[in-house]
Amino acid sequence: MLEQKLREVIRDIPDFPSPGIIFKDITPVLKDATLCVDIVNEFADKLKDVDIDAIAGVESRGFLFGLMLATKLGIPFVPIRKQGRLPYKTIAESYKLEYGQATIEVHEDALDAGTKVLIHDDLLATGGTVVASAKLIEKLGGVVVGFSFVISLDFLNGAGRLRRFSDNIISLVR
Ligand code: PRP
Ligand code: MG
Repeated sequence: MLEQKLREVIRDIPDFPSPGIIFKDITPVLKDATLCVDIVNEFADKLKDVDIDAIAGVESRGFLFGLMLATKLGIPFVPIRKQGRLPYKTIAESYKLEYGQATIEVHEDALDAGTKVLIHDDLLATGGTVVASAKLIEKLGGVVVGFSFVISLDFLNGAGRLRRFSDNIISLVR
């Protein structure tokens, strides 16, 4: 099954990007086009009962399957980027990362008020990245209707921080 296949293909890189962190490397997944399509189809199936108008994906690894999923569903993709990368007027949110601190931004005209947004990222660790993303979406008047991840590190309890936005939290590998 897909979860088993992903467990085999995703590789652990010890002490990257800093000592004590075990990095979950999804780049081997990207070499397998069939597996990438299977991932997106699985997301679409798990989300079939959720009404979604747009997918917001978080730079950089959230762009990979975020855009694929938006394309499959035929809906817009909204890029949330790290500070200083987006060319038009932005709003920003700062957050703590598992390793370090970061600021993310979104274009102020990225979506219309009332847009139902699914937030996608490759991996859920502490939840800091997607909580900041959800705050950006809400600042724009969007409604967060769910979250999707390829991997979630459940021992960090990131999901517990997301439930105030939505109970729809999907991950393919835990
Ligand atoms: C990683 C990962 C998630 C985030 C998860 O991104 O891709 O976006 O950390 O951590 P959190 O749940 O504790 O916030 P990273 O900031 O390393 O950047 P990248 O995607 O550009 O590699
Ligand atoms: Mg990331």
